[in-house]
Amino acid sequence: MADLWQEAMDHAVAVARKAGEIVRHAVHNDMKVLCKSSSVDLVTKTDQKVEQLIIDSVKEKFPKHGFIGEESVAAGEPCVLSDNPTWIVDPVDGTTNFVHGYPFVAVCIGFAVNKTLEFGVVYSCIEDKMYTARRGKGAFCNGDPLQVSDQKEINQSIIATEFGSNRDPEVVDVIFSNMRKILCLPVHGIRGAGSAAINMCMVASGCVEAYYEIGIHCWDIAAAAVIVEEAGGVLMDFEGGPMDLMSRRIIAANNKTIAERIVNEIKAYPAIRDDAPL
Ligand code: IPD
Ligand code: CA
Ligand code: CA
Ligand code: CA
Repeated sequence: MADLWQEAMDHAVAVARKAGEIVRHAVHNDMKVLCKSSSVDLVTKTDQKVEQLIIDSVKEKFPKHGFIGEESVAAGEPCVLSDNPTWIVDPVDGTTNFVHGYPFVAVCIGFAVNKTLEFGVVYSCIEDKMYTARRGKGAFCNGDPLQVSDQKEINQSIIATEFGSNRDPEVVDVIFSNMRKILCLPVHGIRGAGSAAINMCMVASGCVEAYYEIGIHCWDIAAAAVIVEEAGGVLMDFEGGPMDLMSRRIIAANNKTIAERIVNEIKAYPAIRDDAPL
């Protein structure tokens, strides 16, 4: 199967580049913004068009493979990770950035077999940075190898997180209380790119020590998860065990010491799973 997965990865890189070109050209053009679950959960025609392009192109080459795509799930498709080879697609990660022309927007394609992520492709298309990783073969940005930071002291670290799109005051309180705890450790700084995948690629690149978020989905993190691990980083659940892709929460860190330090500081609010029955 090894070569077949390489063929799949090469295809993912090619289609991500094509999709990224469409996204890049659509910034400031063709910007009809719609709302999904709330007025801050945005979607555009470009999100939908790009997801369709990726799925059509993959289906033509790998007709038996399964898909989980953000906009397909929004349209009623199931979000179930089976043992079947499955492509996990976020056509535009950072839609709010895209709508505002804030230049951190990524096309994300992850690929899992037997529920294990085998490769990930994150194309930060405005910056023209292609992040790629295949399990066991390292992580790269535009072909250059990536390595996480070796920092073990959280008070010498930058931590990334996001506000997400839940504006329920109780949820917002948890987000701020978590940020307050992290900030007061003290850390050097808190950052948020507005794209889960780009935050994770920053961890993989060694310029941010960790990223955590509650409320994300499997398509936000699947591709970048492989990139973080292959750059030497770790993925952890808020309770300290291994990250569960469908659990809607993640800590991605340069090492276990920093990840566990975050686990000790922050708490999660209940979030329904991606694969919860409808
Ligand atoms: C969002 C971005 C954002 C994160 C949200 C995600 P989208 O993805 O990754 O940074 O805070 O939780 O939903 O909707 O732009 O693909
Ligand atoms: Ca979205
Ligand atoms: Ca996303
Ligand atoms: Ca998206």
